Amino acid sequence: MSEKMNEIRQAFTEKLKKAVNTQALEEIRIEYLGKKGSVTGLMKTMKELSGEEKKTFGQQVNVLKNEITKAISEKLGQIKQKELEAEINSVPDFDLSAPPVLDRGSYHPITLVQRECEQVFKSMGFAIEEYSEIVTDYECFEALNIPKHHPARDMQDTYYLTNGQLLKSHTSAAQNAIYKKYRKALIEDGKPIKAIFPGRCFRNEATDACHENTFFQMEGVMVDKNISISNLIFFMKTMLSEVFQKDIKVRLRPGFFPFVEPGFELDISCLICGGEGCPSCKHSGWLELCPCGMIHPEVLKAGGIDPEEYTGFAFGLGLTRLAMMKYGIKDIRDLNSGNLKVLSQFTAE
Ligand code: PHE
Repeated sequence: MSEKMNEIRQAFTEKLKKAVNTQALEEIRIEYLGKKGSVTGLMKTMKELSGEEKKTFGQQVNVLKNEITKAISEKLGQIKQKELEAEINSVPDFDLSAPPVLDRGSYHPITLVQRECEQVFKSMGFAIEEYSEIVTDYECFEALNIPKHHPARDMQDTYYLTNGQLLKSHTSAAQNAIYKKYRKALIEDGKPIKAIFPGRCFRNEATDACHENTFFQMEGVMVDKNISISNLIFFMKTMLSEVFQKDIKVRLRPGFFPFVEPGFELDISCLICGGEGCPSCKHSGWLELCPCGMIHPEVLKAGGIDPEEYTGFAFGLGLTRLAMMKYGIKDIRDLNSGNLKVLSQFTAE
């Protein structure tokens, strides 16, 4: 019997030497100490032995069992240590204590200008709304008093989806939804509608230094009883003076948009020459910045608001334009270029 035990011991020692990972080790453990393992098998043969023999044999098997258990656990410790060392040595070659060399990135100039405008309007009690870039023909045109085949659609040709929806050509496309969202509070609780909604707009446009097929606007509306053009001028002047950090003069010229009546182009005094006249303002002293006007009665009606009782103003601030003016960016295409040399120059103050 002790011969058998020695055989087992030897075979085990050989196998253990060859085991290189925890899985191989586990297989060896099962082979010797598992339910059907060789050592367990020895135990089972005990019943064939007589009293005295049984005792010595039992002791010997126990010794063997303990030897094997100990050897396996020692080997496990060694393997784990080796695995850990391998993991440590495989760490890529860099110095964790070195100071960071990567720049932190910067905000896009349009994001900066947009946030500034949002801050100012928020402080004047305007809600900031987000709206989808994909809209229906109704939202973009019909609800804004631009029926099918109206010539005003020519200026706002955009990209159409096969299902008839389109990429919004102006942020005005959200007006109808805004009126419907806030009309109840206006009519029942007498709360004026005051909201701005910045967004990306698209037009089917050949690009050059001043034109892009993708640009940003920020629409604003205010609706209440007795809203007039002077309210519009006040809000625009306040916002622009904050954004440019100086007193900005504004003037209104007539402008046509089917969804406002009367409609205007709002100009600001030239930021470069202060109104004296220079090449940037084509020597007029004024820069065209923001179309606006009093909301057309048909547009209010489409939004469920009675134009006999309520009036309001709307404006469509060109955020892209504003960013170009504020930061002196000459080519509009730089803004969508992803060119970090250009875009990373602007940081929030
Ligand atoms: N939506 C118009 C445009 O993009 C601008 C505008 C907005 C005009 C609001 C008047 C009032 O051309």
